[in-house]
Amino acid sequence: MKKNLFLLFALLFCGHAVATAQEGNECIRISTDETDLIYKTAPNGRLYQTYLGKRLLHDADLKHLSTASKPGSDGSAGLQGFEAYVTAGGGDFFEPALSITHSDGNMSTVLKYVSSEVKPLDGNATETVIRMKDEQYPLEVTLHYVAYSDENIIKTWTEIKHTEKLPVYLNQYASSVVYFERPRYFLNEYSGDWAKEMQLGSQELLPGKKLLETKLGTRAAMYMYPFFELGLGEPVAEGQGEVVLGTIAWTGNYRFTFEVDKVKNLRLMAGINPYASRYELQPGETFVTPEFIFSRSDRGSGAASRGFQAWAKRYQLKDGEGDRLTLLNNWENTSFSFDEKILSALMKDAAHLGVDMFLLDDGWFGNKYPRNNDKAGLGDWQAMKTKLPHGVPFLVKEAKAAGVKFGIWIEPEMVNPKSSLAEEHPEWIIKLPNRETQYYRNQLVLDLTNPEVQDFVFGVVDGLLTENPDLAYFKWDCNSPITNPYSPYLGEKQDRLYVDYVRGLYNVLERIKAKYPDIPMMLCSGGGARCDYGALRYFTEFWASDNTDPIERLYIQWGFSKFFPMKAICAHVTSWNRRTSIKFRVDVAMMCKMGFDIGLKEMTEDELTFCKQAVATYKELKPTILDGEFYRLVSPYEGNHTAVMSVGEREAVLYTYNIHPRFAEVLYPIRLQGLDADKFYRVEEINLMPGKTSAFKENGQVYSGDYLMTAGLRLFTTEDLSSHLFRLCVVE
Ligand code: DGJ
Repeated sequence: MKKNLFLLFALLFCGHAVATAQEGNECIRISTDETDLIYKTAPNGRLYQTYLGKRLLHDADLKHLSTASKPGSDGSAGLQGFEAYVTAGGGDFFEPALSITHSDGNMSTVLKYVSSEVKPLDGNATETVIRMKDEQYPLEVTLHYVAYSDENIIKTWTEIKHTEKLPVYLNQYASSVVYFERPRYFLNEYSGDWAKEMQLGSQELLPGKKLLETKLGTRAAMYMYPFFELGLGEPVAEGQGEVVLGTIAWTGNYRFTFEVDKVKNLRLMAGINPYASRYELQPGETFVTPEFIFSRSDRGSGAASRGFQAWAKRYQLKDGEGDRLTLLNNWENTSFSFDEKILSALMKDAAHLGVDMFLLDDGWFGNKYPRNNDKAGLGDWQAMKTKLPHGVPFLVKEAKAAGVKFGIWIEPEMVNPKSSLAEEHPEWIIKLPNRETQYYRNQLVLDLTNPEVQDFVFGVVDGLLTENPDLAYFKWDCNSPITNPYSPYLGEKQDRLYVDYVRGLYNVLERIKAKYPDIPMMLCSGGGARCDYGALRYFTEFWASDNTDPIERLYIQWGFSKFFPMKAICAHVTSWNRRTSIKFRVDVAMMCKMGFDIGLKEMTEDELTFCKQAVATYKELKPTILDGEFYRLVSPYEGNHTAVMSVGEREAVLYTYNIHPRFAEVLYPIRLQGLDADKFYRVEEINLMPGKTSAFKENGQVYSGDYLMTAGLRLFTTEDLSSHLFRLCVVE
């Protein structure tokens, strides 16, 4: 019903479904429940953004929106409005979304509006398609906008096509550009490195350009994450203020450009990083950019990120609405040192712990060059006979006998020079022919631009699943960026390498998804350097960091939760930072998709009993933990304590952590969020160590949602490195 009304509205008030607009005043309105993005044509036939902000209440007001931006000192408003897909050589003096060198060498492009249409999609989503063309060249540009009303998300991308006689060069080809007119802009960005993923930094944007970008080739993230929060008018806040959260669905080099002009307009552009990637577009070929996904909200980044989480579960993440498996991994515990006996014992440990699966990590393959460390064997995906004489089928059988599922680690895009694969197929390796080779973790990247290599990589998964139909899970790692950027396959067209690598990867993942649609897979990249929504179409979850020190994880998980549902973020209990208790480590992992990667023998009897109980509790609370609405209550960046909560249908889970409280610190009440003000909730502390009872007087008390959200509860303590989890159940 809602969808139909929306469509009707779009047709009545935003122009005809298909319209020509040389006369100007064609209006295209793209709306979510909270936001309007409105375009209009000007008398010059071009298309301009006239509004991006809170959804307007009255249709009658749309006529007031103007295609001219704030005038500059020369008064040239109208000429330089916010062009919908701003081009180089078209009269604009700032960063273009599209820059083309035409086949005759002309570097200008001017796009005129042709037509638009609105299509309903599954769910409460609507796609708006806008067609434009250059009147001097046979060039068509099509803008796509999908508006997800309920989740308040807009996803936008662009298609570029021409029929000139010879190829044209795309020098810049952004996914999208949007504009803001506010007095000030504040950017939250997330930088990182190995074991330091998703670290928040903030700054005000001043006139000039700020770029967020990477050039890593195989992945978007590691040094700079492909996510941002933008505070419009004031710094980003969790619970109030106008914010934009954005990301790009691309597993390679990306670039966000934030450009503040002379009169403080902000131009925000997202796309593939054009670095070393001038794209030769053949006549008749369509270049499709990746999707830029953003949410604008007037209710702070908490609301916007809940929109992101809901959208991802419903539309983007593989099996977004499905369940997730708890697991025991062996990487932190055994590293490369294991054999069949050790693994069989670990499978029994997994069953004893109560988790669903045992996950075998790196080190199970390679014969001529056994993978006993990270210097050899990558590429040779046959079980190592010395360690595993009976191969993978034996392990799958052992897991079954122990009562758990079996999952396995692979890194199929990579090769060690010491491997049979490198000896047999040197031409499959990305490597400069005429320079000294540089290695990252002793390995090189396979040339996924080559269809033969794509077949090989697909074959790694296909081969394992054909041999072991009961294999239940893959952890897909990627430990190296592209070093020595040269594809033997591309020959003279090296500027396609970065784009075609990602396309090659998607081809492989598409084939895997088509043949094995139900297999859950973890995306991993030397910790958490691959976690973009391009790849996550094919993965159910991602590894957030090798850093499982629970203190560090509080910051890392805080950052990732801004953009991802908790079920997508893998968190394992390990022995990183033994100064923290097992309880603290479990309590931190428990807010995400929980697993273990620790020897059970390291634990005392009480600790093991605690972990087993925690797994059982986790399984019981999974619908709330993984699918509830997530609220960040107290930031670890702002003090010595942090708290978050997940709110489900009839219960909520509250997580509280005391990191390093100060002497005689004043402890403020935690105000909860997301509850029903008129319902009553019983508060019960969970995850207690055996024999312990809750020391909180609030334990067992019943409070209204209103009280919990306005007065709040004093649940922080001054005990160093302590944590307390609470279950809140609705009482009738
Ligand atoms: C990097 C990953 O982040 C780790 O979890 C582990 O799988 C190693 N690679 C294995 O080499």
